[in-house]
Amino acid sequence: MDKIIIENLSLGYSDGTESLRGINLNLPERQISVLFGPAGGGKSTLLRVLNRLNDLADVVTVQGRVLIDGENILSRSTDVIALRRKVGMVFARPVVLPLSIRGNLTYGLELAGERRPAVLKAAVERSLAQAALLDEVKDRLGDPAIALSGGQQQRLCLARVLALQPEIILLDEPTSGLDPISTARVESSLQELKKEYTVILVPHSVQQAARMADFSAFFLQGELVEAGPGKSLFTSPKDKRTENYVEGRFG
Ligand SMILES: Nc1ncnc2c1ncn2[C@@H]1O[C@H](COP(=O)(O)OP(=O)(O)O)[C@@H](O)[C@H]1O
Ligand SMILES: [Mg+2]
Repeated sequence: MDKIIIENLSLGYSDGTESLRGINLNLPERQISVLFGPAGGGKSTLLRVLNRLNDLADVVTVQGRVLIDGENILSRSTDVIALRRKVGMVFARPVVLPLSIRGNLTYGLELAGERRPAVLKAAVERSLAQAALLDEVKDRLGDPAIALSGGQQQRLCLARVLALQPEIILLDEPTSGLDPISTARVESSLQELKKEYTVILVPHSVQQAARMADFSAFFLQGELVEAGPGKSLFTSPKDKRTENYVEGRFG
């Protein structure tokens, strides 16, 4: 089933840059969809559309429709706060809050009015376990989050998103600053998470794209060149530009 249906989406910034042109793309539920391609292709712009982070940027024109569970999230009547809770986002550079490890995870829930200690405790443990971080931090939840390694901070950011029980998780090059061991941990937690969540990943390399994809879409300069299920774009691309890119002929 398709969780997200993007219809004829175009987006231009106020300086005249046309960052997305006529995108039509369906993204499946409870799978990892990989959006890949060279820098400047519009991948981050598209992720930001999916939870309306572009509302904060200098966007002049957005055309088309983006349906999540059948509802057009670009509609003026969309509850953006509820949308961002349903569609969580993890960025390339981990940004932890200047709080304890536990505080990073309870912050969003407390903001939403949750006060019951047992509920908060359960959310902390569940989200840390899902982000494959629980074993490393369970004895020091009161320590400042900033004391964690970069890889641990990134998994804490993932846990912070998971604590709010979203349905869709957007990840924009989440392992670009991580060592190979931390990268492998994030990748394996995503493989677990897809059983429950719809995961949209902008990978930091073609290799990661090929490793992680249940579905993939190749973007080039604001256009969707092609999209397809499984590893099809890596094993049998239809478009010469996709083939050249996955074979490393341009970056
Ligand atoms: N806030 C912005 N204002 C103006 N142009 C932007 C902004 N953000 C991105 N762009 C432009 O949009 C295009 C797509 O960028 P981006 O979505 O970051 O691509 P990718 O993530 O694939 O590298 C680029 O040409 C970039 O310069
Ligand atoms: Mg980007």
